[in-house]
Amino acid sequence: MYDLIVIGSGPGGYVAAIRASQLGLKTAIIEKSETLGGTCLNVGCIPSKALLDSSHRYHDLTSLAVHGIGVQGASIDWPTMQKRKELVVSDVTKGVAFLMKKNSIEIHQGTGSLLPPQNVHRVLVQKAKGGEEVLEAKRILLATGSQPVEIPGMAFNGETIISSTEALSLQQIPHHLMILGAGVIGLEIGSVYARLGSRVTILEMLPGLLPGVDARISTAAKRSLEKLGITFHLSTKVTRVDKADSLLVTAQSSTGEEFQLEGSVLLVAAGRKPYTAGLGLEKAGLATDERGFIPVQSHSYQTSVPGIYAIGDVIRGPMLAHRAEDEGIAVAEILAGQKGHVNYNTIPFVVYTHPEIAWIGSPAEELKSIGIPFRSGVSFYKANGRARASEEREGMVLIHAHEQTDEVLGAAIFGAGASELIQEIAVAMEYKAASEDIARIMHAHPTMSEVIRDAAQATTGWAIHQ
Ligand code: NAI
Repeated sequence: MYDLIVIGSGPGGYVAAIRASQLGLKTAIIEKSETLGGTCLNVGCIPSKALLDSSHRYHDLTSLAVHGIGVQGASIDWPTMQKRKELVVSDVTKGVAFLMKKNSIEIHQGTGSLLPPQNVHRVLVQKAKGGEEVLEAKRILLATGSQPVEIPGMAFNGETIISSTEALSLQQIPHHLMILGAGVIGLEIGSVYARLGSRVTILEMLPGLLPGVDARISTAAKRSLEKLGITFHLSTKVTRVDKADSLLVTAQSSTGEEFQLEGSVLLVAAGRKPYTAGLGLEKAGLATDERGFIPVQSHSYQTSVPGIYAIGDVIRGPMLAHRAEDEGIAVAEILAGQKGHVNYNTIPFVVYTHPEIAWIGSPAEELKSIGIPFRSGVSFYKANGRARASEEREGMVLIHAHEQTDEVLGAAIFGAGASELIQEIAVAMEYKAASEDIARIMHAHPTMSEVIRDAAQATTGWAIHQ
């Protein structure tokens, strides 16, 4: 009998298993796919970053003339680009398998489903190689993640109407990629193919991109993506998709005008939903809420059935690998009698476009709407020496701090290296720093990180370089 069985080996599940094992719990993990790592490592975060990197390197060749570098005859070898991506994925998933072994975690390859408890919790494993097995444990952790939302009338067919999974493994670079949804996936996959020469059109029903970020930042990001060649139709709903020789997408703007687009592929990136199919929740006495999430008690992650816990995309909250990881650590510590905790006010969000978009805490719009008095500072990449030397002049940083206490309440960055720079703000917010604290910390010169200090100085009212 195990102390803990984890179902699902994504960033939530595998991290929870490692932490539990470190703390002395006899732990097993059940995974139905051939490789460990879940959506993030196999068909999400990691392969998309591999393609974003390759496509950026190719596209960046067009900007080298200013450095005095001429490039002729650059070409794309799509199968090689895909192969590199697959190697990256296989390396990182093997890395997780190594970590399981190192931490003495038993891997059961197969589909796990809950059985009615009999003094202990029980999971039926339908083994991938055939046969069944019943495992017993004192506690069970559900970390089964999420899957793409399908829209009625636009069912995924793997070829012309696709989800992000297929978008990362297309047979060829599409002539015209149409994307439903200007969310994180729409912007990242749209960037990949626009850089590789596809015509990219994004249809979004909301009036702007990325509602959680400051409007100033999302407007700047949109302009930049338009310069890359992406066409946006905002406040626009896709109403119908027809297939003849190519794909015909009918869309309607908020003013009621209807128009049609013809293209090779439609990527539906309209969000993800919790994945609980076949998990046998009802057998264990569990039910999902109206949106399909497994309800848990906040901060203990226990479901309505004692001894069964859930974390990550399968419970409510932003669907991010790092949130799931932190919940995995917290729940393992709670199970081991410690005080595991996740600070939901300091979750960094990143969109890996170029330049990147990153934010944390509250945007100005939210602070205004909830009536918190605050002041903001802004800094621009074009005033940063290192950014100019690297031809990364596009972008800005916004920091919001409480009017009276000066505590940092939120920040947003649109610019090169935003995914790394946002961590400075995360550390500051975790320690409840004031904007003046950041403003007075010495930053190496010349570095991009000085844009953070500049914005903090602007927030405290004494910008030196802006
Ligand atoms: P999303 O929730 O970020 O964006 C979906 C967009 O589709 C929204 O803007 C929504 O208004 C729009 N939409 C929905 N239905 C529509 C319709 N019928 N017509 C037009 N527009 C419509 O979801 P996305 O991009 O699919 O990503 C899924 C999840 O994966 C997100 O929770 C995201 O956080 C996560 N993810 C995170 C990444 C990162 O952190 N870099 C990368 C990729 C995904």
